[in-house]
Amino acid sequence: MAKLFESITVRGLEVRNRIWVPPMCEYSCENRDGVVGDWHLVHLGSMASGGAGLIIAEATGVVAEGRISPWCPGIYNDEQVVAWRRVTDFVHSQGAKIALQLAHAGRKASTHREQSGSGSISLADGGWQTVSSTAEAFDSLAAPRALEAHEIAVLVQAWAAAAARAIAAGFDAVEIHAAHGYLLHQFLSPLTNGRKDSYGGSLENRARFLLEIVTAIREVVPNEVPIFVRFSATDYAEGGVTPEEIATVAKWCADSGADLFDISTGGLITGVKIPTGPGYQVAYAETVAEKVGQPVSAVGQITSALQAEQILESGQIAVVMIGRQSMRDPHFALRAAHELGVEVDYWPIQYNRAKWPKEVF
Ligand SMILES: Cc1cc2nc3c(=O)[nH]c(=O)nc-3n(C[C@H](O)[C@H](O)[C@H](O)COP(=O)(O)O)c2cc1C
Repeated sequence: MAKLFESITVRGLEVRNRIWVPPMCEYSCENRDGVVGDWHLVHLGSMASGGAGLIIAEATGVVAEGRISPWCPGIYNDEQVVAWRRVTDFVHSQGAKIALQLAHAGRKASTHREQSGSGSISLADGGWQTVSSTAEAFDSLAAPRALEAHEIAVLVQAWAAAAARAIAAGFDAVEIHAAHGYLLHQFLSPLTNGRKDSYGGSLENRARFLLEIVTAIREVVPNEVPIFVRFSATDYAEGGVTPEEIATVAKWCADSGADLFDISTGGLITGVKIPTGPGYQVAYAETVAEKVGQPVSAVGQITSALQAEQILESGQIAVVMIGRQSMRDPHFALRAAHELGVEVDYWPIQYNRAKWPKEVF
């Protein structure tokens, strides 16, 4: 039996296999109201019918100003909950599980989507004043305003309310987005956090906002619901976060009630060289896995069944996330089962006549 197709239980959630889909922004809430629609249903639904174990729905604003763009989804009102429910119900009907990535883009919010231009959207065009750990801008985007401590407390509560709404919308788990240069990463990294208050300075202080969120979410979601955290384990720059620091923060998160760590890299600053290639982030995930003693997932240019299986066989990694390859091939997991000679009982009955003959790929 291939490891990829062994089920895994994280806290109270059993997932049918270890081929998961990471969050991928679609910029497709056409009314700019954070309400998901047909595109999201088809995009996420096809990966569920395609055999994925768990799908993490894209970065979703815990508040309207936390969205990367006006076209990104939200989870801050009841209309959004109802719209997400349609997606989670379909995913469940296919035997897959679904998590929601809870996000705040901080100084990288209020931007255009590919079709509408580039850079920040002006206030006149429906953009908004961004906030961050700092008042320094990201690259050429509009400058943020540094959050006051009392505003951080309000955002912690917004994160918890968003998690409660995610559960009401039928999600099986939530993922806190602390990676890719978004708000929580802006607090975690010394490169973007020069604060003099209790949210800046030592690692403990830089992690305080995140840990308060983990604690607040754990208080509002049912005990069996797992909390995932996505980190960037390096900023690819001197003075940025290190994998060892991130492993320490992950351990603190675990002590506060988080269950699985999804390890990515980069996104905080521009002008750095990122040595991409097949599986280029796996070693970072392994460093965290060694120290944290909780399940860790690996992501980044994992594109074949054999490559994915080998990553799991190395022993440290619990789950692989297949991103762009899942967009190219939403039935990646069914194909992987065929290629590894595994019989799965979740081939959609409607597609029965499309099963690969046993002897060919
Ligand atoms: C179109 C697109 C949108 C993405 N949106 C998100 C996102 O919402 N949240 C996130 O944490 N990562 C996001 N990512 C990063 C992916 O989750 C993943 O980590 C990355 O694509 C590397 O994996 P891959 O090589 O398998 O695609 C996005 C990637 C792509 C290609």
